[in-house]
Amino acid sequence: MTRTSSNAIEVAIVGGGIAGLAAAAFLRKYPQYNITIFERRREDDEEHSSGLALRDGGKAIMKKLGITREEVGASPGAGYRTYTINEDLLAESRLPEGSDGDSPMWLLSRGDLKDALFRRATSEDGKGKPAKIVYNSHIVRVDPDTGTIHFANATSIHADLIIGADGIHSKVRSAIIPESHPQPAPCGISLYRFMLPMETFENAVKAGDHTPVMFQFNEDESFILMVAATDGSNCTLCCYPCEGHKTMNVACGIFDSSAQTPEELEYSWQAKGKKEELKAIYHMFPEWFTRVLDQVPEVALFQIRDQDPLPIYFKHQTVLIGDAAHAILPLGAQGANQALEDAEGLDALLADVTDVNKISDRLALWDSIRRPRAAATQRTARGFESVLSSKANQDKVLASKPFVEMRVLAGM
Ligand SMILES: *[C@@H]1O[C@H](CO)[C@@H](O)[C@H](O)[C@H]1NC(C)=O
Ligand SMILES: *[C@@H]1O[C@H](CO)[C@@H](O)[C@H](O)[C@H]1NC(C)=O
Repeated sequence: MTRTSSNAIEVAIVGGGIAGLAAAAFLRKYPQYNITIFERRREDDEEHSSGLALRDGGKAIMKKLGITREEVGASPGAGYRTYTINEDLLAESRLPEGSDGDSPMWLLSRGDLKDALFRRATSEDGKGKPAKIVYNSHIVRVDPDTGTIHFANATSIHADLIIGADGIHSKVRSAIIPESHPQPAPCGISLYRFMLPMETFENAVKAGDHTPVMFQFNEDESFILMVAATDGSNCTLCCYPCEGHKTMNVACGIFDSSAQTPEELEYSWQAKGKKEELKAIYHMFPEWFTRVLDQVPEVALFQIRDQDPLPIYFKHQTVLIGDAAHAILPLGAQGANQALEDAEGLDALLADVTDVNKISDRLALWDSIRRPRAAATQRTARGFESVLSSKANQDKVLASKPFVEMRVLAGM
């Protein structure tokens, strides 16, 4: 279909997570784009939050969107630190200080990040037209040949650009990737996750006057803190502050094989775990662990899935971003960063497109640059499952390629 450049370009974003909201936040400033986000959740659905880390790329992209560390309540992160359950420091890996005077990492909650992106994408202030969001949108199928999205309520819409940001269980992906490509598969590790008010956490780990040395936090410099059992079980607790240092984000790794019902494990933020099971698996941890768990109303249990790098991220005018394109093991603190880099790339390459017939070429250029970089990050994150707590692996995670703007990579 040929259209004149004066027509608005209809953009449909499938999924209102970090990737989808970031793409909307970037693209809304261009007057040619009419953006609608189709989100599966209902507007008033409660979402489980959890912590995440933004590295140099994520931080740079936040700044491009005018989002400050204060706005998202991020704690200044310096790197990784591992202690044994006996309070001995096993390993410390630091990221180099940035030249911008900011800490090398931001430690924050998914909820705070999404809220900030949502404001940038949908607020009446700001350049261009705010993105619209349609909740309770259930997608059945996307047809890239015609640019059509089919919904479960038997309606369909046409869009000039379809951005599939619908996560690891993406419906859009199956319209682009042959069914013969391996589906995301369990890698043998699950994470128990919960968040606790910082004060509650600090009171729980304290015994009398003694606060275990690893929990003596410095608000000006936080670490992704690992506490590792030394008995060969590889039980490792990972925690760090977020939400303006008011919340502690905690994850406890387990092997799927140690769960009572491994066949029930899910890749879902909503899946619940059993505290008693976690206590039993982490029986070698000191008393403070039990006291912390006693304060937690409910724990989530999240099975980590690994996706083989995809052979392509786009077809015609439909493109995959975020976890839909490159689901990644969460252990290298890269998932949100990769999603944000996808959006920053679309921003650079779609800025001056006013003719819908040019979209496909720009997506091809975006794909040729983003796909190898994201795939390399996916591969690096593999193999850390059980032993991220070692100094060598921590250093390897932190040594990942520095962020480079799409404009530079594309030679624009
Ligand atoms: C069907 O779902 C789509 C996507 O959520 C929505 O835009 C549309 O209004 C719905 N139509 C009806 C008739 O419910
Ligand atoms: C536990 O970690 C060690 C390294 O510290 C590793 O050699 C071993 O394979 C891990 N155990 C399992 C079951 O993965």
